[in-house]
Amino acid sequence: MADDKNKKSPVMDSEIFYPSKEIIENAHIKDYESMYKYSIENREKFWAEQADNLEWFKKWDKVFDASEAPFYKWYTGGKINIVHNAIDRHLKSWRRNKIAIIWEGEPGDVRTLSYHALDREVSRFANILKSMGVVKGNIVTVYMPQIPELAIAMLACAKIGAAHSVVYGGFSIEALAERIKDANSRILITADGGFRRGKATDLKGIANDAMKRSPTIEVCITVKRTGKEVYMESGRDFWFHELMSLPIANPKCDTEVMDAEDLLFLLYSSGTTGQPKGLVHTHGGYAVFTSTTHKFVFDIKDEDRWWCAADPGWITGHSYIVYGPLINGSTIIMYEGAPNHPYPNRWWQMIEKYGINILYTSPTAIRGLMRFGEAWPNRHDLSSLRLLGSVGEPINPEAWRWYHRVIGKGKCPIMDTWWQTETGGFMITPFPVTPLKPGSVTKPFFGNEVAVVDDDGNEMPAGEEGKLVIKSPWPGMARTIYGDSERFREVYWDDYKKQGWYKTGDSARIDEDGYVWVIGRIDDVIKVSGYRLGTAEIESALVSHEQVTEAAAITLPHEIKGNAIHVYVILRDGVTGNPDLVEALKKHVRNEIGPIAVPETVTFADKLPKTRSGKIMRRVLKARALGQDEGDLSTLEE
Ligand code: PRX
Repeated sequence: MADDKNKKSPVMDSEIFYPSKEIIENAHIKDYESMYKYSIENREKFWAEQADNLEWFKKWDKVFDASEAPFYKWYTGGKINIVHNAIDRHLKSWRRNKIAIIWEGEPGDVRTLSYHALDREVSRFANILKSMGVVKGNIVTVYMPQIPELAIAMLACAKIGAAHSVVYGGFSIEALAERIKDANSRILITADGGFRRGKATDLKGIANDAMKRSPTIEVCITVKRTGKEVYMESGRDFWFHELMSLPIANPKCDTEVMDAEDLLFLLYSSGTTGQPKGLVHTHGGYAVFTSTTHKFVFDIKDEDRWWCAADPGWITGHSYIVYGPLINGSTIIMYEGAPNHPYPNRWWQMIEKYGINILYTSPTAIRGLMRFGEAWPNRHDLSSLRLLGSVGEPINPEAWRWYHRVIGKGKCPIMDTWWQTETGGFMITPFPVTPLKPGSVTKPFFGNEVAVVDDDGNEMPAGEEGKLVIKSPWPGMARTIYGDSERFREVYWDDYKKQGWYKTGDSARIDEDGYVWVIGRIDDVIKVSGYRLGTAEIESALVSHEQVTEAAAITLPHEIKGNAIHVYVILRDGVTGNPDLVEALKKHVRNEIGPIAVPETVTFADKLPKTRSGKIMRRVLKARALGQDEGDLSTLEE
């Protein structure tokens, strides 16, 4: 359901920001319209040309294969490995000595890795994984803080043809256990913890509890980050640094030759039902798509320092911290901790210290930092910035303007990129040359056609809200849901089966200039601080508490988080709600899912509004909470 506040997006706002002459002159793409036209009229040719920028062990036979639609394939017959493109090929040029990663820990410790050094670390760890019996096709679960070893672990898996399934470090026991089970992982890679707001998190403790519920895990490798005392089980647990000091950790390791369509990773994302979906991405198409979108949209130059301030545990980090930028040979900045630790100038200090040229972050982070005022960024020299980016949820025009004026000093265009875990990379986005309207994600990326339609697939008139669909396949698209291809078809393709369109699950409008304005999710997926959660996941966590029989979760607008979670619960007979129980339920959700899912308020109820078929009408709860009209109640049970 769309949030009311977003409905006020100034669709007809005439405020337009034009790029400077300098930005246009230096841009890779100087004329978006003609390149776009070319890419639509010659879609396969366009994607073959982009794929030619990568190194293939063997070229593809076919660029695009729709014979098993909607299970599309790209670059079939091609042989490639994404790590060969992200690391190995750079070793043959001057980039061997270029900095690949500059990492700063929250306490202020710094590590840098050149492409040469990154190759050695990845190869050493790849050899360790091999010695642990990891082979091509295995799925390794990775549960880590934002430290270089996270990227090293992902790359080491891909190098030897194993797939990774990274579980965001903010998820808790049940969420981790569920994902390990679904992926049938034998190996878990974790750390003793990480630093966040001056405190050490207890990742290993959570991993240990999750392993109790995950009989498939045979080996757990733990990176020592915080030095906190942790429980290590003999025969199962190994320290990363101890393994890395063994002779087996040889810095030479061959990169496995993969089919373009071989599994690269699974990434779990929330959907309408409680069970998270393991979205499947593959070596070939994903490599082409992430590197092309990264290079063109953020106008990547060899001398750039690129900072995507997301967590690698989410798709943004997979595509635009690790794979896209490394394939483009970029220098990447990674930061472990909170943006306001120890003070709200931490990020601005980072930009000045490392001379960062491009910052890519989320509206929730911008709103969070905006609240501390302009004095913090103004204390720092931010003149190295050339471009800014936003992702994860609609950016409200006020935050857009602040970001543009205070951080970008009015000279840095903002790339508000719309995409999803499922899309692998940018789908609707400005380019540096695009005239910008604050709050609009502007126009589709090359090769991509989108529309805003009604349930029958009729296009909505300009400015009117409808469902956002994607009209044709693209190389970075998820291939399926791991172990559940029926669900993949049902969730994304069945609604517009006749037309063969992909359903995004978002509602949007397209204005008279063809600019897209995303409003929000239409299904039971919610976005809190830019993180994606399912109402069903939160509800089942609540119901797993012994005193709760039923629960409903909704979101209401929140100044910084964008949306905040509010829950309604029905208690077991004889139990009465009280403030202690509210706290206990919040704690329970934190344990089951993680801190991001903790509800803002817990309301005890006797009944929940339901349809006659028993479905909770969350929209009624939401309308009531906002004091709005409850709309059509004809399906309400009573
Ligand atoms: O609702 C859209 C919102 O995030 C959803 C996808 O979430 P996830 O798979 O977690 O991926 C987030 C990072 C790519 C979308 O369905 N969304 C993402 N980017 C934007 C956005 N909403 C508005 N504007 C954006 N730029």
